[in-house]
Amino acid sequence: MVTSAIILAAGQGQRMKSELPKPLHKVCGVPMVKLVVDSVRAAGIDQIYLVIGHGGEQVKEAVPGVNYVVQAEQLGTGHAVDQCREMMASVDGPVLVTCGDTPLFTAETFRNILAFHQDQGAAATVVTAEAADPTGYGRVIRTAAGNVEQIVEDKDASQAHKQVKEINTGTYCFDFKLLFQYLGEITPDNSQGEYYLPDVIAALVRDGRTVAAYCLPDPEEAMGVNDRVQLAWADQALRRRICRRHMLNGVTIINPEQTYIEPDCEIGRDTIIYPNTYIQKGTIIGANCLVGPNVRLEGAVLEDQVTIEQSVVLEGRIGSRTTVGPFAYIRPGTVIGTHCRIGDFVEIKNSQIADESKVPHLTYVGDAVVGSHVNIGCGTITCNYDGKKKHQTIIEDNCFIGSNVNLVAPVRLHKGAFIAAGSTVTEDVPEYSLAIARARQVNKEGWNKREG
Ligand code: UD1
Ligand code: CA
Repeated sequence: MVTSAIILAAGQGQRMKSELPKPLHKVCGVPMVKLVVDSVRAAGIDQIYLVIGHGGEQVKEAVPGVNYVVQAEQLGTGHAVDQCREMMASVDGPVLVTCGDTPLFTAETFRNILAFHQDQGAAATVVTAEAADPTGYGRVIRTAAGNVEQIVEDKDASQAHKQVKEINTGTYCFDFKLLFQYLGEITPDNSQGEYYLPDVIAALVRDGRTVAAYCLPDPEEAMGVNDRVQLAWADQALRRRICRRHMLNGVTIINPEQTYIEPDCEIGRDTIIYPNTYIQKGTIIGANCLVGPNVRLEGAVLEDQVTIEQSVVLEGRIGSRTTVGPFAYIRPGTVIGTHCRIGDFVEIKNSQIADESKVPHLTYVGDAVVGSHVNIGCGTITCNYDGKKKHQTIIEDNCFIGSNVNLVAPVRLHKGAFIAAGSTVTEDVPEYSLAIARARQVNKEGWNKREG
């Protein structure tokens, strides 16, 4: 039996007070709705129907590869699900329904919910949680015998119902046929004038169908994001979870509250992460590295035993035993070899630097290919831009570049070339040669012994 999922993400998210559609607000760097879709997929469900409306085109772009169902007018969660009727006509079996604004559900939880639903042989299973503060959520009202009777929205709740701590998480499993049969029966006679999906639950109960409730062991997963305060809490919760996973895998994180790791990053054993470090999408860090404090890595690959402090690496690769920083800026397209030293106030863009080379301080290397065992002195600049085009600088193995050198590209320093300090190099330098390109010094004797 194939299981399908409907994810609701058509609402505007008025409480966010934003131009950006709510499902695209990010939690740990990932649009909320993408986190939901990723978890659903990881639970093994690949028939996914995403209901879009507000900012639909933008949402599509952020979440490729699913079926899109357009809800042109947002008339409520029940109406949103009902828009899938036609497209899902040939579907059968259980269907998971969840929201694009509850980003903390794990794949494991989705799997457990489905298994529970099937065990119970239920027409519907509503996923609930015991909330410390249930404000804003629908409350699960049970009969004296403890069976689910109905769900009452916060805005429609009496004082007595508001006391109930068990909330509707907005996630359910339904028998597909019954879901669409009963969706036809609900009406918008409530304080918001909307078609409420939870009303399907009450209707099923009324007709004597089996409705089960699955209470989440960890209520944090139920966290719904309706405003920016909840967005920040969700971010913190996911961040803690990610840090915890890395710590249990053998990574030392000095202060998890000040460490920002996005999902899908890898970190090797015995690496130590110092505070205020941002490890962002696509980053892979090897074993025994020292990272931070104050480092931002995005799409960066650090091999083993790399040390990096107070620096930024964007889409670059750093070889093993290389040290970077403090205050280095490694820009896209950069590949640095093993056992190199990239020091303070160094910017490297779209360049390769081979093993055992040093760029210790105050240098710009752009569009360059640098060999191994090269030393680039303090204040060296590759002048790669002539105002119209970028040009390449090639520095072969074992070159030595003195301080304050300009290398005007395109230019090639053949192996073992030695550039005198203060030179502006405009022509290629043959191998093992010394190039001096600066004005000769003139000494005017006694010049500063002037009278008066
Ligand atoms: C909903 C539930 C509430 C539950 C809570 C859990 C209803 C009526 N209420 O309330 O019981 O406790 O979630 O977080 O279902 N959406 C559409 N189209 C619409 C309306 C909403 O696609 O016409 C989408 C939204 O984009 C959102 C989700 O459905 O992703 C939930 O809508 P929202 O307005 O946030 O409902 P809540 O008030 O949070
Ligand atoms: Ca919500």
